Amino acid sequence: MIDVKDLVAGYTPGINILNGISLHAEQGEIVTLLGPNGCGKSTLLKTIAGFLLPREGDISMQGKSVGHLPVHRKIRECSMGFVPQTDNVFTQLSIKENLHTGGLFMSPQEKVQRIEALCEQYPILKKKWSDSASSMSGGERQILALARALMPSPSILLLDEPSAGLSPKMLLDVFDAIVKIREQEQVTILMVEQNAIEALKMSDRAYVLAMGQVALEGQAKDLLNDPEIRELYLGGRAA
Ligand SMILES: Nc1ncnc2c1ncn2[C@@H]1O[C@H](COP(=O)(O)OP(=O)(O)OP(=O)(O)O)[C@@H](O)[C@H]1O
Ligand SMILES: [Mg+2]
Repeated sequence: MIDVKDLVAGYTPGINILNGISLHAEQGEIVTLLGPNGCGKSTLLKTIAGFLLPREGDISMQGKSVGHLPVHRKIRECSMGFVPQTDNVFTQLSIKENLHTGGLFMSPQEKVQRIEALCEQYPILKKKWSDSASSMSGGERQILALARALMPSPSILLLDEPSAGLSPKMLLDVFDAIVKIREQEQVTILMVEQNAIEALKMSDRAYVLAMGQVALEGQAKDLLNDPEIRELYLGGRAA
């Protein structure tokens, strides 16, 4: 469970990128963050993850106030996984080595068991096991990035544009993997997406950001079914 209250954050002293954002995601929910380029989606995810510390406001995970914790402590203490927008796999390392880097705090036995389970779930990992991640397609890399984040069996998963640069077919494969993660492991998923319509179809709720604030929030199906919202915020006409 994630609860964000009145979050203010930014990079340069005196300039705020997030201007008082509040949102929540219940256990096992898929919540999508939408909005135009530069509105602060990645900054919000990075602040929730702990790469940036909030200037004001707070973040709770599983009911515990953790706004002050840096990313490495959130990963260990809050069972959080984070897949960044870019550079989310080590291209010079093999698939096996990438998975191992996702399990830094796990015992060797736990790692072996988890890797086996993930390879069963995502056969492409086993198929390319010793190859370098640079040999994978965009969609395969996203699957590897997801699997790497799933190594320690997180309760919370933050995903920044998991479908960026993918073909429509690969996008569906990656979204399918995300839906299965929620079904099988009851993970709370907070996801930034540009493919608004497709992302809403697999989400429970969504927030639309504009200039570092929440412009709109609602049930995904309500946003999808509102022709005005589709045209104004989601880049598409009602079907
Ligand atoms: N490391 C940084 N240092 C300074 N400013 C930054 C940094 N990263 C992002 N910004 C600024 O913060 C604002 C929000 O950027 P952010 O990356 O959060 O947007 P976004 O909504 O994720 O955009 P996109 O859809 O293009 O990924 C932008 O004005 C950007 O220039
Ligand atoms: Mg971004």
